[in-house]
Parts: sequence; structure tokens; C-alpha cells
Amino acid sequence: MSLKPSRPTASERLTVGEAAARSGLSVSALHFYESRGLIDSERNAGNQRRYPRAVLRRLAVIKVAQRMGLPLQAIADALARLPVGRNPTRADWRRMSTAWRAELDERIHTLTQLRSQLDGCIGCGCLSLKVCPLRNAGDVLAGEGPGPHFREDV
Ligand code: FES
Repeated sequence: MSLKPSRPTASERLTVGEAAARSGLSVSALHFYESRGLIDSERNAGNQRRYPRAVLRRLAVIKVAQRMGLPLQAIADALARLPVGRNPTRADWRRMSTAWRAELDERIHTLTQLRSQLDGCIGCGCLSLKVCPLRNAGDVLAGEGPGPHFREDV
């Protein structure tokens, strides 16, 4: 006789605790993703959440996308294009990752430039509005009004 808990079959629904344990995420994270429309659940007769097993693949995609630094809205937009209640397929993932690659390339380019500029600032600490490339070289953002602004073009 095995003492290991049985794994749900494909047709079984997962409790929020089971989905959290299987995905390595917290229960609160699942609630948050659900509130943002990234995952869906049904309610049982006792008004408790039950997730389809397909939620595990969606959660895996969310985790990978978040590791890439993608905004939650971009992830939600991509997942919203998938049919509800089924796993993202290999083709789905290929489409998503292709679309995200351009965004990642842009982020890498921006971060690489910021790192280069930071090299010139290490040991300086002035954060001058006039000369610091990280802050606002040449005060080019003066026309943007009060409050913090950041140059996107450097
Ligand atoms: S901190 Fe001085 S130039 Fe950036």
C-alpha cells in the first residue's frame, strides 16, 4: 500500500493548495493572478476554488515570463489569446516566445546602455541634472513637467 498522495487525473480539479504546491507558487500568488485574469477557477458546491489541471501549464508560463522581466499585463495579454481551460501547446508557446523576444531584446539593449552609463557614474554620486547620463544629461526632460522622468532613448 502506497502512502504517497495520489495525483489528480486530467479530468480532476485542483484545490488552490494543490495548485500552489504543484506550481511552487503561494496561494496568494494564485489569487492575485486570478484577480488579474491570468488564470481561471470554478467554484464547487462549497464555494471553494477548483482549478483545471491546465492551470499548471499556464502558471509555468507565467513564472518563466516573470523571470524574463515581462510586465504582468504583457503576460495577461498573451494568455488571453489562448482558449480557456486547455494547456498552451508547443505552437502557442512558440508564438508567445517569439513575440516576447523583441521586447526582451529591447530591454537588454536598454539595460546594456544603462550599465555602460553607470560605469561612468560609479564613484561620482553627483546625479547632476546637467551632466549625469543616468539622471538627465543636458536637462532634456525639463519640458516634461515636474516629477520624475527617465530618458528612454539612452
Ligand atoms: S552620478 Fe555623476 S555623472 Fe552620474
